[in-house]
Amino acid sequence: MTNGYLLSFEGPDGAGKTTVLERLLPLLREKVSQPILVTREPGGVQISERIRDVILDVNHTQMDSKTELLLYIAARRQHWVEKVAPALDEGCLVLMDRFIDSSVVYQGAGRGLDKAAIAWLNDYATDKRKPDLTLYFDVPSEVGLERINQNASREVNRLDLEALELHQKVRNGYLALAESESDRIVTIDATKPLDEVVKEAYDTVLRFLEKAVL
Ligand code: TMP
Repeated sequence: MTNGYLLSFEGPDGAGKTTVLERLLPLLREKVSQPILVTREPGGVQISERIRDVILDVNHTQMDSKTELLLYIAARRQHWVEKVAPALDEGCLVLMDRFIDSSVVYQGAGRGLDKAAIAWLNDYATDKRKPDLTLYFDVPSEVGLERINQNASREVNRLDLEALELHQKVRNGYLALAESESDRIVTIDATKPLDEVVKEAYDTVLRFLEKAVL
């Protein structure tokens, strides 16, 4: 039986979701009494962070798309079992920087892998648990890539170096997913100034929590 809430933060590279999460956390801690866990995919626990290093290594240009998918799924499973599921069982509000939708969009829409296979693998990794709410931070691919190029402190990974075409497919994939699962996914315009994006994210999370505990 799961008591906590699972919220995922999604978006194309350079959408700024990690920065928003950092700004959001102290605001939520002040307002919400339940414990909050912030974690990320791929990663979040030691084994999954090591898988992350393998996936995102800029030298691994020969990596096959299915290998890439399976590594994300392996990282997801370990993170799920070791950290996320126990936190939910303890009643935490879990904020995930990326989750199952990233595989649907990057490996499905982006790489063109079979969507049914990805859905099955996601279910397998998470014992069929979906996010209760997903905040999708939307930016045009050109804007996202420009931000990455200008941010010297951000790690540049193998996916960042892919052609603009992949990033455009990813963004279109997110837009289509947000439309088809509009009950769960809230789209936030991440081209707005950071303060406004943080405020919108905060209001969205609070609206969800108020409704969920009624
Ligand atoms: P990050 O830069 O947001 O930490 O994510 C690392 C990269 O991994 C990013 O380009 C998105 C990509 N990714 C996938 O392609 N599939 C996945 O399932 C996940 C979780 C991330």
